[in-house]
Parts: sequence; C-alpha cells; structure tokens
Amino acid sequence: MRLAERAAGISPSPTLAIDAKAKQMKASGIKVINYGVGEPDFDTPDHIKEAAIEAIKAGETRYTPAGGTLKLKEAIVEKFRRDNGLAYQTNQIVVSVGAKHSLYNTFQVLCQPGDEVILPAPYWVSYVEQIKLAGAEPVIVQTREENGFKLTPDELKAVITPRSRVFLLNSPSNPTGAVYDREELAALGEILLHHNITIISDEIYEKLLYDGREHISIAAISPELKENTVVINGVSKAYAMTGWRIGYAAAPAPVAKAIADLQSHSTSNPTSIAQAASVAALSGSQEPVADMVAEFAKRRDYMLERVKAIPALTCPKPGGAFYLYPNVSAYFGKSYQGQLVNSATDLAGLLLEVAQVAVVPGIAFGGDDYIRLSYATSMENIKEGMDRIEKLLGQLK
Ligand SMILES: Cc1ncc(COP(=O)(O)O)c(C=O)c1O
Repeated sequence: MRLAERAAGISPSPTLAIDAKAKQMKASGIKVINYGVGEPDFDTPDHIKEAAIEAIKAGETRYTPAGGTLKLKEAIVEKFRRDNGLAYQTNQIVVSVGAKHSLYNTFQVLCQPGDEVILPAPYWVSYVEQIKLAGAEPVIVQTREENGFKLTPDELKAVITPRSRVFLLNSPSNPTGAVYDREELAALGEILLHHNITIISDEIYEKLLYDGREHISIAAISPELKENTVVINGVSKAYAMTGWRIGYAAAPAPVAKAIADLQSHSTSNPTSIAQAASVAALSGSQEPVADMVAEFAKRRDYMLERVKAIPALTCPKPGGAFYLYPNVSAYFGKSYQGQLVNSATDLAGLLLEVAQVAVVPGIAFGGDDYIRLSYATSMENIKEGMDRIEKLLGQLK
C-alpha cells in the first residue's frame, strides 16, 4: 500500500520511543532508571479525580461543543486573568486533546506552503514535524549555552526573511529549562511585531518555575503582542494530568474559530470527563502544584550538584520545567570497551545498555552535543542513576 508523502516524511517521537524502550526493559525485570520521561511522577490530585467521577455520575458523558465546554472555557479565561493578567473572552479559547494537539491545530490554521516558521533550538521535538505537516518550513536557529540557551534579538533578526510567518517561543523550555524574563520577551516581541510575524507561545511549563521566578506570557507585554500571539497551555505538567489529554489555545477570535472548526472535523471535543476534571484543576486549590514544584526544586538542585561534580560536563542552571541539559561533548572520541562515543546518541545508547539509565540524546532537540535528563522521578532514582552515570563516564577512555 502506498503511503502519502505527508506520512512517509514523519519521524516518530524519539522521546516517546526511549520512554517506551525503558518501560519495556523494566517490564522484563531490568532495573532501568528512567531519565527519559516527560511527565510528572506524581499522581493527579484527588479533588481533580473526584470531579471526573462526579462528571461520570452526573451523566456528563456526551458530546460537548467541539472547542470545549463553556464551563472549562470560563475556567481558562479566569486562569489567564488571575495568573497572566490577560483578558480573553470565551470565544478566544479552544480546548483540545492535549497541548500537543492545540499546537498541531494552530500550525494547521496559520501555516501553508511557502511559509517559514522560526524555531529556536534546542526545541521540543514535535514542533518540527508539526510545522512540516502544515506544509511550512522550519527555520532552526541555534541558541547558545553561554546565553543560557535564550535567543538574542540579533540572532532573531539574522533569520527573518520576507517568508517568515510564525515564531515559536517555548518558555520555560523543554529541554533546556530556560526562562525568558520580561525585558527579553519585550525585545523579541518588538522585532516580531515590526516584521508582522505571529507568535505561538507554548507555556505548558508555566507553573514549574524555581528560585522565585515569575512566569511572563509574551502576550501580556502589550495589547499589540496579545493580538499577535496564540498562547498554548494545558493541564498535563502543572497538575500531573498527562494521561487526561487536555490542552488549550488562546487566540484572536477568528483564529480560535478556525482552530475549533478544524477540530470539529477531526477529534470533535476532547473527552467530556477530562474537561470536567480540568475545571477542578484550574479552579480548585493550587496547593498540590506548589507541593510538586517544591519537590522538583529539591531534585533539580541535587541532580545539578551531581552533574557539576563531573568535571567534563557543563550545564546551565535551569530556571523551569523538569530537565537538565548537560553538554557531553568532552567525551566524544573516547570509548568504552571498544565502543566509540562520537555523539550524544552514542553516549545515550551506552548509558542505556551498560548503565541501564535512559536519557534522551540532544539529536531529538536539534543538536547532538547534549543529553536531556528528566528529574521527574524519585530522589532515590536520581541518586542511583547519577551514581551509574558517574561510574560509566569515569570508565570512558
Ligand atoms: C514543550 C512542550 N509542549 C507541549 C507538550 C505537550 O503536552 P500535552 O501533554 O498537553 O500534549 C509537551 C509535552 O511533553 C512539551 O514538552
């Protein structure tokens, strides 16, 4: 059977593939330490689960409007007002099947062949495929470790062409944990407005911030930037709800309508029960979020200390999300029992095979000098995994 060109060009998500391999090794009895995960290891808070159970009992088991229930849209509008100082109307909100789906829909309605999408690297792996699936061309611009992996105004200006249509911003970032501050966002925003480039701002890690940092949405910087931005967010990371699959987009009303119309012909509404649970997540107590963040902060500090204790590794301190992104290039050219390491992919392979630690090689994020370590796992696993990594790296000759 012939595959369409669109399908033949898609690469599977490498992060999901590594996670699946680690889980498979675990199931066969191998004690794998999984630093490949992109989801909180905490359970969904009880009051959110209860809301879902109540929704089932109350018969909220039918189709809802394709773009989400009014109740959830109202809770999202209130969240934007409370947390971001952004005033949206419910007709500017579309609820989808996870933030990944919100992003997919947004690229579909904004991009077409001939368009360029500016994508700072390291980037989250799905952006590239989603941009291509919309027929547009990703223009990847490398950020630098010495700038904390944040794009500078000059780096942005250097890649703008008459075809630049969209700029993808992800703060806090997966995989680097970089967080842009207000001044940095304002400087990028001014250039983007000047060139009439739409911003897609993926703020899924908004709540996972450390050292007293505050999340700033680029849309909140000025009314002009709000009009020029689609904000993407969701409940997966903040509320430990990755399996529930609820994300959302906030956009000017005509764009929101286009996203909802597109969705009405694909998934229709996201699950009614998960929508009810998300109302409880956004409107209920935010204490469980604070508890998770406090725990993540401890783990980040410990893991970073361990990484920094290995002299050949460099790693900026991440301000958000739950990943470290150390540079492992000092090991290139060394080998372990005859197995040569020439890339982060080689090293990740060795770590999984020999040390049984799953990490994601930087190639998944646009550069193979780094590995991504997720600390969304217990302190015990972090200790054990870092012991194993340290031992293996010490054996590379
Ligand atoms: C940067 C980024 N955006 C979006 C998503 C998608 O999240 P969701 O579970 O809501 O689809 C992820 C998940 O890993 C992510 O890391």
